[in-house]
Amino acid sequence: MSKLGIIVASTRPGRIGLPIAQWFEGEARTHGGFAEVDLIDLAEVGLPFMDEPNHPRLGQYTKQHTKDWSARIAGVDALVFVMPEYNYGYNAELKNAIDFLHNEWKYKPVGFVSYGGVSAGTRAVQAIKQVVTTLKMTPLFEAVSIPFVQQMIDDEAQFQPNEIVVAASKAMLDELVRVEAALRPLREDA
Ligand SMILES: Cc1cc2nc3c(=O)[nH]c(=O)nc-3n(C[C@H](O)[C@H](O)[C@H](O)COP(=O)(O)O)c2cc1C
Repeated sequence: MSKLGIIVASTRPGRIGLPIAQWFEGEARTHGGFAEVDLIDLAEVGLPFMDEPNHPRLGQYTKQHTKDWSARIAGVDALVFVMPEYNYGYNAELKNAIDFLHNEWKYKPVGFVSYGGVSAGTRAVQAIKQVVTTLKMTPLFEAVSIPFVQQMIDDEAQFQPNEIVVAASKAMLDELVRVEAALRPLREDA
């Protein structure tokens, strides 16, 4: 059994990404396909802008925050990015966190929970696929795409998904388990 890392991409005060990620964490635990689930909040991780002198593929990290980030991502077998769409793209904090590392991402599947207005964050998801494949991650087709997300945030700032969103999360978790198992030999060889 393996470990899933759920990355909260938005770091803004008052972000809706956190309650959405907390909901998805609950779905992942109920699903049971992963023995462990790590909710990785980029606001808590608190990386500065990329400040390593060496290319990350060398793994010669000089900063403690990079070593800690490396260990956190190396410790998971599959990932889900819970991500907003900013100006038709992915948010800068997520790209920065990805750029810090290299081999830690390799041969891991990644699913996307995206949200926004009419686009449901799908433009950001399409844009980040070319980033993650450069790092040899495998992006899933199955996705949780949440349109008009504000309508699913209640008065207590909690996320209240409709049944379409819940069904999509189950489908994505099923596929994440399958692809994680298929990629495991490649990770073991690497
Ligand atoms: C800088 C910025 C740019 C945005 N651009 C988009 C956009 O291109 N598409 C969209 O659907 N929503 C856009 N929004 C609205 C976001 O979907 C909404 O603010 C959402 O709450 C952002 O996620 P967060 O609260 O987790 O940061 C934008 C919001 C911000 C702050």
